[in-house]
Amino acid sequence: MSHPIRIAPSLLAADFSRLADEVASVEQGGADWLHLDVMDGHFVPNLTFGPVVVDAVKRCAKRPLDVHLMITNPWKYADAFLDAGADCLTFHVEVDQLGDAIGLLRTIRGRGKKAGLSLQPDTDVQRLRPYIAELDLVLVMSVFAGFGGQKFMPSALERPRALRAMGFAGEISMDGGIGPSTIAMAAAAGVNVFVAGTAVFGAPDRQAKIAELRKAAAAARD
Ligand code: DX5
Ligand code: ZN
Repeated sequence: MSHPIRIAPSLLAADFSRLADEVASVEQGGADWLHLDVMDGHFVPNLTFGPVVVDAVKRCAKRPLDVHLMITNPWKYADAFLDAGADCLTFHVEVDQLGDAIGLLRTIRGRGKKAGLSLQPDTDVQRLRPYIAELDLVLVMSVFAGFGGQKFMPSALERPRALRAMGFAGEISMDGGIGPSTIAMAAAAGVNVFVAGTAVFGAPDRQAKIAELRKAAAAARD
């Protein structure tokens, strides 16, 4: 059985001066999950926000929060993001030598939340192999993490098949450059969670854009 199509607008492209309105706009527009990009200025060359903002979004959101940690030390902050209301918590496999990654995935699941790992475009997908049994979700980066509005990298499209070949049966998310012209390729490759920042928040009619994305993904899976 295939996983449901989930459109996950990335709040990185939202207007932070009116965050509650932006959340309501994409939720009313049909968003399934809200994607929150946490950057520490160390793992990636950009800084965004921490648990305080995740908590603020949680208080106005109705849909699950998909929190993407682009940080060097997820061990230090995971509990704070779970306390703040993350429903799915994903960190990067590139930091796995810096701590006990299996232990952290089990901590996340032990709190009843979905546990995810992400990988950069130049990271060997085999790095995920030791963690397959501990994962609910793999977030495949289709740009280098750090900034919205980058161009989709088609090399990401090989990864879902490789994950299935490793026995991974969970949800596969793709993040970076997802829009009307790339979502069908991602869906055909086996992705079911589609993170889209610029495409959704840059659209004058978010509801129409989310519907367009969902339709294109569904058509590509048929
Ligand atoms: C990039 C982030 C993405 C980003 C996607 O590091 O992980 O979630 O916001 O933005 P777009 O959809 O504009 O590529
Ligand atoms: Zn992201």
